[in-house]
Amino acid sequence: MSEHTESAILRDVAQYYTETLRQHGETPRGVDWNGEDSQLLRFAQLTKVITPALEISVNDVGCGYGALYDVLKPAHPGIRYIGCDVSAAMIESARARYAHEPNVSFVVTSEPDVADYGIASGILNVRMNYTDDAWHEYFRSTLALLDRTSTKGFAFNCLTSYSDREKQRDYLYYANPGEWFEYCKRNFSRNVAILHDYGLYEFTILVRKNV
Ligand SMILES: C[S@@+](CC[C@H](N)C(=O)[O-])C[C@H]1O[C@@H](n2cnc3c(N)ncnc32)[C@H](O)[C@@H]1O
Repeated sequence: MSEHTESAILRDVAQYYTETLRQHGETPRGVDWNGEDSQLLRFAQLTKVITPALEISVNDVGCGYGALYDVLKPAHPGIRYIGCDVSAAMIESARARYAHEPNVSFVVTSEPDVADYGIASGILNVRMNYTDDAWHEYFRSTLALLDRTSTKGFAFNCLTSYSDREKQRDYLYYANPGEWFEYCKRNFSRNVAILHDYGLYEFTILVRKNV
């Protein structure tokens, strides 16, 4: 997609989430989720991509205030966690929250350095006023980024086109799960899992590499 459109999207996204954080603070609502239960349920799906090892590194792309780290730390004591977000306000609050954690860093960017795994929770949902075509292209470019910045695998979630029609909102993007499963199989790895069985109006895709 054109650099111009992509940077316009990232700018608008940053503005959107800076505002949710301003309104609701460091809470699931501050990153536009309904509550902690669903936030944790999402993390439980996404982290299935990780094969435990003594040392792992994880990019949390669109980390918000860094809540995923609270789940990763006890499960993977040897983790190096890098949170990145386009909202500078989010990164500021994440840095303050985890200031005493030695293996954690936060960066204002949409493109982190390479790590073992990339995890992206909730970065493909809010398309604002962008057209289906523009968002589709942005979606593909975001998956390409997750692919080139992870060596062992990546995972992402998005709202499902199987959501009840009357509940759908124009400013949100509802992806066709089958289409993105196929896209990941064809472009990234033979080992792709789709999880669409956890009770939310969304699905998670896990892409495992070098298996
Ligand atoms: C729905 S919130 C989820 C935050 C966190 N992942 C969680 O589940 O608690 C999405 C976050 O991703 C950030 N974001 C969205 N698109 C991004 C992108 N392409 N690169 C980096 N950050 C992004 C937003 O600024 C926001 O803080």
